[in-house]
Amino acid sequence: MNRSPTRVMFVCLGNICRSPTAHGVFRQKVAQAGLADRIEIASSGTGDWHIGKPPDARAARAARARRVDIDDLRAQQVTAQDLADFDYVLAMDADNLASLQTLYRATPQARAEVDLFMRFSNDYRNQSVPDPYFGGDRGFELVLDMIEDASAGLLADIRKRWAGID
Ligand code: 4NP
Repeated sequence: MNRSPTRVMFVCLGNICRSPTAHGVFRQKVAQAGLADRIEIASSGTGDWHIGKPPDARAARAARARRVDIDDLRAQQVTAQDLADFDYVLAMDADNLASLQTLYRATPQARAEVDLFMRFSNDYRNQSVPDPYFGGDRGFELVLDMIEDASAGLLADIRKRWAGID
């Protein structure tokens, strides 16, 4: 049985709205599945403006309303090393994906699977998660709907990968 944890990083622009929400929702799903010791989760932003800051209050409130706590998370910026250390590096939108692919091409040790998080969604397959930062509360609800849907697909994909190597 393969005992080294599978490592997943979610990436958006600021790491204060979408990717911490994905981090928190997926973390909870993994814990509920009893897999917290087998899947490591992180999140980051392609931008550096919010490094060290907690999640946006609107994102934290919307998550809390769905019984997901993201208050402990702090923003960080994605690094080249992350592309070597993580198994999955999942972008919340097409712009973030393009930034990650540029970094990947400049990083000889990169080995992560880099893709859109919504690749794993049923209802929002391969879509970008719209940036809610400059919008209203409904944007944050859509972010949660999309993330909840894709989280189930991602966990199924990880289990499938394990079935191949365990
Ligand atoms: P996020 O949202 O990428 O989902 O964290 C944003 C947060 C901050 C900014 C843009 C998007 N900003 O321009 O500061």
